[in-house]
This record gives sequence, structure tokens and C-alpha cells, in this order.
Amino acid sequence: MTDTPDNPIICACLEISKNDVIQGIKENDCKTIEDVVDAIGIGAVCGACLDDIQEILDEVNGED
Ligand code: FES
Repeated sequence: MTDTPDNPIICACLEISKNDVIQGIKENDCKTIEDVVDAIGIGAVCGACLDDIQEILDEVNGED
């Protein structure tokens, strides 16, 4: 897993990158943070990444 400016690690606990989150949101048609947590298991450890997940959700769903 590489941590690059284009594809930063969002969830340090589980090493889930931004692109992984975006892919998970699109594949599972996630609308809420809970959907994303259920779909890809992100945020289940410390929860520090939940704000970033919301931002990505807004980005992805705003694009559609
Ligand atoms: S950073 Fe995602 S659960 Fe800790």
C-alpha cells in the first residue's frame, strides 16, 4: 500500500487508501458512513478516519 498525494491512506489502522474508499463506495452504492463501514470495514478500529470518509462520500455522491 503506497501513501501518495493522489491516493493518501485514509484509515491508518486498516491501511485503506482513498481510492479503495472511493471504489468501495461506488461498488456498494454507499450513501452514509455506516454503509461504508459495513461495506469495506473501514473505521472499525479507532474511528479517526470517519470525518475523511464523510468528505469522500460527499465528493463521490456529489459527482453523480
Ligand atoms: S484510522 Fe480508521 S479506524 Fe483508525
